[in-house]
Amino acid sequence: MRVSIASDHAGYDLRKIVATHLEELGYEVIEGGAESALTPYSYVEAGKKIAEDVLSGRADRGVAICGTGIGISVVVNKYKGIRCGLCTNEYMARMSRQHNDANIIAFGARVVGQAVALAMVDAFFTEPFAGERHAVRVNDIKTLEEENFK
Ligand code: RB5
Repeated sequence: MRVSIASDHAGYDLRKIVATHLEELGYEVIEGGAESALTPYSYVEAGKKIAEDVLSGRADRGVAICGTGIGISVVVNKYKGIRCGLCTNEYMARMSRQHNDANIIAFGARVVGQAVALAMVDAFFTEPFAGERHAVRVNDIKTLEEENFK
């Protein structure tokens, strides 16, 4: 599986840890965003990179990190076809896959620690979509996208 991961400066240090973890697990990682924790970098640009990687097929899924996770999750959810869950714990990460068929996970480097972040990505990349009644709701989201996106 190919994973696009990007962050702003606030998410830089945690992004490096998560990217290394995913590579060690055998995922193909495409990294983007800030080049250091010290130079300001917009979470909007980082989010655009992830959403475009996923929608183009360059990546199968994405990991989005900023200070709170809020800004970057808002950005990626502006794209038709993106379902990003902003998560603060492993249960939310698991449910974002099982119930929402999320294709991007977002979290905040100033909100969660390293252990929680790694537990969340492990859940996000292993939990299957449950389908059935949840597929009906995800299809309803796609219908909303058709109505509301140009
Ligand atoms: C950067 O200071 C901060 O605003 C950003 O990382 C994020 O938390 C925005 O939602």
